[in-house]
Amino acid sequence: ARKAVLGPLVGAVDQGTSSTRFLVFNSKTAELLSHHQVEIKQEFPKEGWVEQDPKEILQSVYECIEKTCEKLRELNIDISNIKAIGISNQRETTVIWDKLTGEPLYNAVVWLDLRTQSTVENLSKRIPGNNNFLKSKTGLPLSTYFSAVKLRWILDNVRKVQKAVEEDRALFGTIDSWLIWSLTGGAKGGVHCTDVTNASRTMLFNIHSLEWDKELCDFFEIPMAILPNVRSSSEIYGIMKAGALEGVPISGCLGDQSAALVGQMCFKDGQAKNTYGTGCFLLCNTGRQCVFSDHGLLTTVAYKLGRDKPVYYALEGSVAIAGAAVRWLRDNLGIISKSEEIEKLAKVVGTSYDCYFVPAFSGLYAPYWKPSARGIICGLTQFTNKCHIAFAALEAVCFQTREILDAMNRDCGIPLSHLQVDGGMTSNKILMQLQADILNIPVVKPSMPETTALGAAMAAGAAEGVCVWSLEPEDLSAVTMERFEPQIKAEESEIRYSTWKKAVMKSMDWVT
Ligand code: G3P
Repeated sequence: ARKAVLGPLVGAVDQGTSSTRFLVFNSKTAELLSHHQVEIKQEFPKEGWVEQDPKEILQSVYECIEKTCEKLRELNIDISNIKAIGISNQRETTVIWDKLTGEPLYNAVVWLDLRTQSTVENLSKRIPGNNNFLKSKTGLPLSTYFSAVKLRWILDNVRKVQKAVEEDRALFGTIDSWLIWSLTGGAKGGVHCTDVTNASRTMLFNIHSLEWDKELCDFFEIPMAILPNVRSSSEIYGIMKAGALEGVPISGCLGDQSAALVGQMCFKDGQAKNTYGTGCFLLCNTGRQCVFSDHGLLTTVAYKLGRDKPVYYALEGSVAIAGAAVRWLRDNLGIISKSEEIEKLAKVVGTSYDCYFVPAFSGLYAPYWKPSARGIICGLTQFTNKCHIAFAALEAVCFQTREILDAMNRDCGIPLSHLQVDGGMTSNKILMQLQADILNIPVVKPSMPETTALGAAMAAGAAEGVCVWSLEPEDLSAVTMERFEPQIKAEESEIRYSTWKKAVMKSMDWVT
């Protein structure tokens, strides 16, 4: 068994759409010491609706913390060395709960949910002034994706919520707020806050002034009293009030894509990363400047690592469905029984045999922003089998990334010379090679794939009053990288990419 580890440790909760994880890092070396992961259920009560149970999410956090601590004890590591906890989370997912009982008043409406399509249509008819009103303040297009419209729908449709708002019992939050409030005491004094990165995904937040915006709240008719306090991404928010880590401060909070940007050490202007999770998100650091896209990308808050530290911004290309397509092949078609099996299946054929799969299950996000698009599988013949469809699903992730990378290159003017990647799907070598082939640039992956959690841990450990994380990006330059070089000719990938584009057009024509 391992002997005692020198130096303080930092824990990170990584609450994603598909699973929750808790991971513990050594703050002196960034070594990952132990972790535990639990899959999260998704409910689809109606076509296009996606919900999760906020209590299951909270329970999964406690379970992951307990199990990780058990594993650390087995390694002879004293858990009292854990000095801080950071949180990274799926963004935009909307929770509303009762502050007196601590009970959620409705299921969490997940970012992928499409029920607000007509809410969006109605709102778009009454945008004040010019069409730029929302985008100039929030960096976001009006879409089903962001929290404000989900919250509007809940306020319009759930009587229990309306009543709680009238009686001043309702609190709103994205998953970070729900977790921090619950973990720091819930109805018995929990802290109701969020960080600037999560706030920037609600559409109620002014990304220039870094405050909730009265005009935006009026536009969406959201009562400002239910909104959490907005804090930086690195400061002490409160203390864990239960579980194995009772008494440990929660001192880092970042939306998961921002956390991955930090964990990949993309601190300089022009540095970018692409994370393959449930969806796929390419973020490029634009420094202290808010850059607006002409090609369908979002402007978002990248991070603000301390109360007195400056805010950094990013351009973001968001793809709704990446790993979720693999989960769909597993849960809805049953052609694999575990997500990892897709690699073996795709390897059998090594080609999609001209089958194209556009997984527009939640419409299409960047660069199209078409909520009415629907998924299609096309180019089928009697020869097509499940292996080709599996391959086409992986190729779809790569083509979608190519679309957002092209948009990013156009917006930034300087094309990325390589793509830094992370996230669960990057352990799939076929996917990584395909990605390099389709982009025609090298794809580079760190040996430690948990960069999202690492980013949250760094923010927590570096917070004022905690200060146990002293590692600079240079200290981690020894981190080994795996590189995938393009292996096919650019012309070949261009032909495939242009056929993909035709398939995308068909998916957008599907519903008029
Ligand atoms: O914006 C949604 C995003 O934060 C979800 O991330 O990791 O669950 O794909 P993930």
